[in-house]
Amino acid sequence: MNKNDYMIRLETPCDYREVENLAREAFWNLSVPGCDEHYFIHVMRSHEAFVPELGFVLEADGKIIGSIMYTKAKLIDEKGTEKRILSMGPLCIHPDYQRKGYGKALLEHTFEKAMELGYDTVVNFGNPDNYVARGYKSCKKYNVCFEGDVYPAALLVKELKDGVFDGRKWFYHPNNADAPCSDAEAVAEFDRLFPPKEKRWQPSQEEFYIHSHSAITW
Ligand SMILES: CC(C)(COP(=O)(O)OP(=O)(O)OC[C@H]1O[C@@H](n2cnc3c(N)ncnc32)[C@H](O)[C@@H]1OP(=O)(O)O)[C@@H](O)C(=O)NCCC(=O)NCCS
Repeated sequence: MNKNDYMIRLETPCDYREVENLAREAFWNLSVPGCDEHYFIHVMRSHEAFVPELGFVLEADGKIIGSIMYTKAKLIDEKGTEKRILSMGPLCIHPDYQRKGYGKALLEHTFEKAMELGYDTVVNFGNPDNYVARGYKSCKKYNVCFEGDVYPAALLVKELKDGVFDGRKWFYHPNNADAPCSDAEAVAEFDRLFPPKEKRWQPSQEEFYIHSHSAITW
């Protein structure tokens, strides 16, 4: 991959179905049999937390092979001070183009844009393997947790500039943009708009279970 091989640009409405299909290809059977990320993207765009200025696609070989999206979220400290932050995701690269640096390019491009919009922190849930090389750290390192002092192993925090966090405890308050995904029938109905695909088990689903059920306790 070199810089002349691809283009990163804002998503437009004409891209919506192509991006949803890309997400379906990238996430299918990854975390669970099937996936709901294509539906998540579909409903996210009309959620109040969605940040359209950070919805980017990556084009290569004349088609969209990458997509990244962000929503607004917040941190609240023990004195009630609120800090507006970004929640990143979904991020996906078409399976035929993975591990060539395109995901890195989308992240780094959008980190710059996020800073221009005045944000200094990005949070997301994910497999640390995909993010530590981009400077993400465990939420525990920055004392960012859920109510009840839970520090999920998959809750990753990226400072967009040095020294954002000063050691005080912050509670993460996600938005509810993914709430419609808990409606299995709505997900299934949306999925019927796409070509049939086989749902099956694969080992990455066990990896997902482990990451998503783990917390850092010491
Ligand atoms: C995760 C994903 C977005 C990464 O994009 P990508 O273009 O494949 O990844 P990149 O080539 O940019 O590599 C990103 C980093 O992943 C890590 N990585 C690369 N290959 C890896 C491998 N085989 N195993 C583990 N980590 C690897 C590296 O840290 C790499 O950064 P570095 O090369 O600068 O050190 C992409 O693979 C994807 O869409 N996967 C399916 C959907 C998904 O999992 N989305 C993320 C939800 S958490």
